[in-house]
Amino acid sequence: MNIAVAQSGGPTCAINASLLGVFREGYKNSEIDAIFGSINGIEGMIEDNLINLKSIIRTSEDLELLRQTPSTVLGSCRYKLPDVDENSEVYEKIAKCFEKHMIDIFIYIGGNDSMDTVVKLSKYFEIKKLPYRVIGVPKTIDNDLPITDHTPGFGSAAKYVATTVHEIIRDSSVYSIDSITIIEIMGRHAGWLTASTCVLRAIGEEVPHLIYLPETDFDIDRFIEDIQREQAKHQAIIVAVSEGVDLSSIEGVQTDAMAGVDAFGHKFQNGVGKALEHIVSERIGCKVRSVELNVMQRCSSHLLSKTDIEEAEAIGSAGLRAALEGNTGKMMYFQRISDSPYETVIRMTDASNCANFEKKFPTKWINDSKNNVTDDAIDYFLPLIQGDINFITQNGLPRHFTGLKRS
Ligand code: F6P
Repeated sequence: MNIAVAQSGGPTCAINASLLGVFREGYKNSEIDAIFGSINGIEGMIEDNLINLKSIIRTSEDLELLRQTPSTVLGSCRYKLPDVDENSEVYEKIAKCFEKHMIDIFIYIGGNDSMDTVVKLSKYFEIKKLPYRVIGVPKTIDNDLPITDHTPGFGSAAKYVATTVHEIIRDSSVYSIDSITIIEIMGRHAGWLTASTCVLRAIGEEVPHLIYLPETDFDIDRFIEDIQREQAKHQAIIVAVSEGVDLSSIEGVQTDAMAGVDAFGHKFQNGVGKALEHIVSERIGCKVRSVELNVMQRCSSHLLSKTDIEEAEAIGSAGLRAALEGNTGKMMYFQRISDSPYETVIRMTDASNCANFEKKFPTKWINDSKNNVTDDAIDYFLPLIQGDINFITQNGLPRHFTGLKRS
């Protein structure tokens, strides 16, 4: 039998480790002949654009490089499958691709939108009485998938973001003048990644002094007052703001750098930090700088969390094992057994429990003033950023897997 695997949605630093997990599991299973990579997520299955992974992942060094390479080596997509009654043609094309390449199993590594594909496709195969199995493997730096304790990719992103905020406080406190640095952090509608900057408290830092999440209402006057209160205590203020914080009630503020939405109706986010920089500059008047971490937070692989990468690989392997056992329409997930010692187990749930739902940062971990998170959140985040990876380097630079060159 043959299997196919694809990556979908926003890239992470761990999504190739999950691909590696699928590949390794497939390789050691004598039932499996070819392991196909579908290029650009489900689009590759629709357009019959597949590559035999065994032809590009050839050496043990390739395996190591895959683990340390950020982003999706198979490309990605934000493609929403239409409802089957609306357009069955696209499903027929996918089924044809399965048939042509004798594919029995499709592993889809993605976030909540990608689980929508797992649900729709597995239902279609069931209705058509086709024997194909579809399993979802979670990933997203947003950490907003329901059911799972956390998502692969999040731990490495959190480690990068916290490390960068830590470095920024050193840089911003060199002068004797007052300063405010506003750091915009990804997460679309969920504040997990922004909140995770609280881990700096575990090494004795008081930064970020203020944290704003999309889970609470944002009030610009309260925001200015919060900063002024912090200024009475510190000369250099660090503020972490989620890209999903809603500034729409502030007159004259335009935050969407690019107008428009993706196929799932998600607005392109960014610009919150810059917008706040202008307002704070005008209303407080000291030196204000905004820093948008942008794609660096999901592709900065020089600060990988070993825990994250190992878990990402393990859940990829578990996904294939689940499919081989006959499951379909499921998503693999982590259940946390304990924070310390950190222990998780991998389980399986119906992908429909996760498709299109967003798990928000818990309000119980947001302080009463809605401008920071509580210490309890630190225990949740800390295990996810632990451990480092030894890199294969060349001329002082980490190498990447480039077996499938993409322009
Ligand atoms: O997939 C998650 C994410 O990285 C979000 O944090 C961010 O808002 C979004 O993707 C950006 O997506 P894109 O790069 O497709 O614009």
